Amino acid sequence: MHRTAADPAAETAAPGAEQLSTTASTPGARAAAPPGPFPLVPPSLAPEAAPGLRSAAARVLHANWTGTSTVPSRGLYPHQWSWDSAFIAIGLRHLSPLRAQIELETLLAAQWDDGRVPHIVFNPDVPAGAYFPGPEFWRSSADGRRAGAPEAVETSGIVQPPVHALAALLVHQADPGLSRARGFLARLRPRLAAWHRYLLECRDLGGAGLASVVHPWEQGMDNSPCWDVPLARVAPAPARSFRRADLDHGTVSDRPTDLDYGRYVRLALRYRDGGYTDRAPGTAGGPEFAVEDPAFNALLIASERALAEISAELGEPEPERPARAERLTAVLVERLWDREAGLFLCRDLRGGTGTEGAPVPERAVGGLLPLLLPDLPPEVAEALVHTARGPHFGLGGPVELVPSYDLLGTVFDPRRYWRGPAWFNTNWLLERGLRLYGEQGLAAGLRAALVETAAASGFAEYVDPYTKESCGTRDFSWTAALCLDLLSEAPVREPAAVVRTAAGHAGRWAERRAAGVRV
Ligand code: SER
Repeated sequence: MHRTAADPAAETAAPGAEQLSTTASTPGARAAAPPGPFPLVPPSLAPEAAPGLRSAAARVLHANWTGTSTVPSRGLYPHQWSWDSAFIAIGLRHLSPLRAQIELETLLAAQWDDGRVPHIVFNPDVPAGAYFPGPEFWRSSADGRRAGAPEAVETSGIVQPPVHALAALLVHQADPGLSRARGFLARLRPRLAAWHRYLLECRDLGGAGLASVVHPWEQGMDNSPCWDVPLARVAPAPARSFRRADLDHGTVSDRPTDLDYGRYVRLALRYRDGGYTDRAPGTAGGPEFAVEDPAFNALLIASERALAEISAELGEPEPERPARAERLTAVLVERLWDREAGLFLCRDLRGGTGTEGAPVPERAVGGLLPLLLPDLPPEVAEALVHTARGPHFGLGGPVELVPSYDLLGTVFDPRRYWRGPAWFNTNWLLERGLRLYGEQGLAAGLRAALVETAAASGFAEYVDPYTKESCGTRDFSWTAALCLDLLSEAPVREPAAVVRTAAGHAGRWAERRAAGVRV
C-alpha cells in the first residue's frame, strides 16, 4: 500500500479539512491477481473503468464524512455506527490514512468505562427524531452512568461485532509512518484491550468462554431468521409507543417488520432500565435474549489475533492473545459447529430445557464466517467451503454473492434486510476466508462480483442475491469502502505450501502454522 498524494498535507490539517485522493494507489494490483477463472475486475469494468470506480466510491465516502467520522448513510443512519466505522476505516485508509485513523479514534473516544464500545455514537447536530431510537431513548449519560457511560457524548448502550482491532491494524499498515508519528496504535491499544476484556468477561453469559449478544442489533444482522425463535419469547412494545424513522428513508418491504421493531424496542428498554448491567440468563433481571453467535465470536477471535500483532508492533508482545484465540476457536467449534448442516449455528442460551441452551437450526451467512480463522480443523474449513458453494448459499452457481440467509429456507426473502439479501461486508469477510484456505478462484470471482455489483447498484446497502437489484439505501458507506479496498489491495497469495491440495491435510496444517499464516 502507498500513501496517497494528498496525505502529506492532511497530516497537518485539521480533521476533516484534508482532501481525499481518488488516484489509483496500487496500479499493479490487477496484474498481481492469482491465476483463476475470474479476473479481479470484471471485463465490463476493466481496466479503464477501475479509476472511475475508485472515484465513485471515494465520492460516497467524501459525502458521508462529517469531519470526525463517517455516517453509514446520510438519510437512514445519520450518526456513527460501530462496525460500520470499522469497515469504513478499512476502505478509507486507501484514500486518507489520517481520516481512517480519526474514524476509529472518534468511535473509541465514546467507549464506556466498563470497556463496551457502543453501537451508535450520536451526533448532537442531527435533529431529534431523524433516527429512532435516538439519544433520548438510550439516555446513556444518565442510565448508563453505573456502567461508565461517558458524560460528554450520548451513545446507545448495546454493542456491535468487534471488527475494530482488525481495522486498526489494517489502517496502521496503510501508513505506518503516519500511524507511529501520531501514536495511533499506542493510543488505541488499551481501548481495544478493554473492549475485548468486556466481551470476554462481562459477556461470557454461557460460561464456556464465548461472548453472547443480548439484542439482535448487537450481532448486526437485525432481522435474521436465526432470531425468530429466541425473539418470539419477547412481548413487543406497542407499535403506538414509538415512531420508526427508518421507514422515512426505505421501502417498507426492504426493512424489518413492525412486530420485529416492537421486540427490538422492548429488549433495549429492559436493558436500559437495568442500568445496562450484564447478568446471566435465567437470573433476576437477566436478559430475555442471549445468543452465542458464530460471526460475532469469529470476529472477536480474528481481532484478538490482530491485537496481538498491534502489541508486537508496539514492542510489547502478548503471546497469550494468539494462544487465547486458538483456544476460543476450539470452543467455537465445540459449541457451535454443526457437522450435519455443514456450518456453524447460533446457540440460544434461553432455549432448550437445561442451562446449556439450544442450537438454532437456521442456516445464515454468519455460520460461514468462522472461515476467517486460520486454525479451524481441516474438515470444518472444507465443509464451510462446500456449504458456501452448495444449494443453500449457491456461491459460483445460482448467485455470485453469498446471501445473508439460506436460499432454500422457508422464510427466505430476497429483499428484506438480513433475511436473504446479499451484503457487502459479509461477502468481503468471506472473500478473506476463501483466500486464506486456498480457494483463490472462488475468492477472485467473489471479488469481481462485489466490485461490479457495488458500482452497478449505486453502492447499495444490500442487493437481491439473484437479480443484484439494489435494496435498502444507496451511497452506503461500507459498500463504497469495501469496494475501494478490493480495488486497491493486491490479493495476498497464500504460501504455496498451504494452498488447497487434494491430499496431505495434516502436513498442510502444520505448514500453515509454521508459516505463521494469519487472517
Ligand atoms: N441496524 C439498526 C437500524 O436499522 C440498528 O443499529 O437502525
